[in-house]
This record gives sequence, C-alpha cells and structure tokens, in this order.
Amino acid sequence: MTVNGAPLIEMADVGKLYGSIRALQGISLRVGAGEVTCVLGDNGAGKSSLIKIMSGVHQHDEGTYKVEGQEVRFGSPRDALNRGIATVYQDLAVVPLLSVWRNFFLGSEAERGVGGPAKPLDIEGMKRIAKAELLEMGIDLRDVEQPIGTLSGGERQSVAIARAVHFGSKVLILDEPTSALGVKQAGVVLRYVVQARDRGLGVIFITHNPHHAYPVGDHFIVLNRGRMIADRAKSAISREELTSLMAGGAELEALSHELERSTDRSLAAVGHELEEEAHELGIGRTPAGGS
Ligand SMILES: Nc1ncnc2c1ncn2[C@@H]1O[C@H](COP(=O)(O)OP(=O)(O)O)[C@@H](O)[C@H]1O
Ligand SMILES: [Mg+2]
Repeated sequence: MTVNGAPLIEMADVGKLYGSIRALQGISLRVGAGEVTCVLGDNGAGKSSLIKIMSGVHQHDEGTYKVEGQEVRFGSPRDALNRGIATVYQDLAVVPLLSVWRNFFLGSEAERGVGGPAKPLDIEGMKRIAKAELLEMGIDLRDVEQPIGTLSGGERQSVAIARAVHFGSKVLILDEPTSALGVKQAGVVLRYVVQARDRGLGVIFITHNPHHAYPVGDHFIVLNRGRMIADRAKSAISREELTSLMAGGAELEALSHELERSTDRSLAAVGHELEEEAHELGIGRTPAGGS
C-alpha cells in the first residue's frame, strides 16, 4: 500500500485484443508495495500481454488500470518508467561490450538533473554508484569496468534489478527472468527478487515455473488462455495446488478421470496410470473450484 492507501497497481476487468485475437479478458488484480506478485501461466496464457499493458508497451482495450489510485493509459514505456514502473525483459536490453557501469546508467544519464539531483555525474561518480548499488544488492563485482557481456545470465539480470532499484522504481516487472537459466543462476536471480521486495518495491515476477514462483511469491495470479483462474495469497495456496492450477494439471486430471470411468478395461488402466503420473508430478490434486 502507498501513502494514500491505494495499491501500487490496480486493474479492474482489463481486456486486450490483438485484432480479433482476444489475449486477455476480465483481469482484475492488485499489486502492493513490499510484496512479490507472481504471474503464472503456460505459453500463450497472456502473461506478456498483461505486463506489456502495465509497462506501457501496449494499451488495454477494456477495463481500468490505476497506478497509486490514478487511472492511467500509458503511451510508451517511458511514460510507465516516469511513474516508477520498470521492466526487465528476458532478452535484456544491454550492450554486451559496454562496461557494467555504463550499462547501469545507459539511457538514464540524460534524465539526471531533471527530477533528481541537479549536479551532473562524473564518470568516477557513476562507477562508484554502480559498484555501491550492486554491492547493496549483494553483487560483489571486482571491476565495474568489465564488459557486461562477461557476466553470467543471472548476474546480468541482477544488474538490471539493481539499476531499477537505484533509479527509484516502485514497481519492478520481471518477464520470465529465470526461464533461460540453470538452477544455480535462477537461484541467484530469485535472491535479488526477494531483495528488491525487501527494499519496498512491488515486484511482479512472471514465470511458467511454479517451483521458482512459490518460494519467493507473496501472492499468485494464474492465467489460462487470457483469463485469471486464480488470485491467491501464499497462505491460501500450497505449492501442489499452484502446480496443478498451471495449464495441463487440470486437463490431465480430467482426462484421467474420464478414462478411468471407461468400461474398456485397457482404457481405464491408461487413465489410472495417467493419474499416478499426475500425482508424481504434483499436479494430481483438483484445484479448489477448478474448472
Ligand atoms: N502482438 C501480437 N499480435 C497478435 N497476437 C498476439 C500478440 N502478442 C501476443 N499475441 C497472442 O496473445 C496470446 C497471449 O500471448 P502472450 O501474452 O505472449 O502470452 P504468454 O506471455 O503467457 O506466453 C497468444 O495467443 C498470442 O499468440
Ligand atoms: Mg511471454
């Protein structure tokens, strides 16, 4: 919650159409400060469309979108950034051969002095700030002069997160930051997600992996074919339920039940096997009120 009591982000009945393709329908959600909101869903569920509306890349066609209680319709990502909404995309907009500190300040140098401190920053100052901010997030780089391309995927994501924190973002949107990473690197990024939250940001973490979402999430939104099929606080959902809510879980369960009821014994056996498999995968439980 913010000073005026309104959530950082609030959407009511938001819908999005690409021509005649309906990507989102009836999306209502709230994102609070100091919490991690996870948006889950299979490919094509509408996750990217949703965050593109939040971050000003696209506009919604239906419903209302409010930031800190004020209705908005962003014309560009810059508009969203000016309202404190920063987005880190999976394919990071970094320049691999430029140094870490230059990437840290890339696109933001010109902004200095407009709203922030009036003094133009010198190169040594920028290096110092980049190093200090990264250290604050627990990223200890020997040398901020090294090209950002020499960092691991997880470290690069982390630099982008530290950067958003430094430039005063209130909302940090991460679109599938862990999906291209190995387990260890994903762990690194998840740690910075938690740190950004602990520094008071409202973090929106998009993923199709419930095992990445569950440990760090405070609140879970599950999308399925453009609709919200769940919006739960962590206390109201288990990891197994979250997994089963993901596309596939419910369908697999329904299919196994259908087959098990079959009078054909071999079909029934297949159904039974499917169900056991679903249990093993942790998607065997029917979600509460699931469709
Ligand atoms: N620019 C676009 N033009 C037309 N259809 C799109 C566009 N972007 C996404 N879609 C469609 O909208 C649906 C949701 O896509 P998307 O938001 O990318 O889902 P996700 O990020 O969950 O995979 C899909 O059916 C996708 O094909
Ligand atoms: Mg996507």
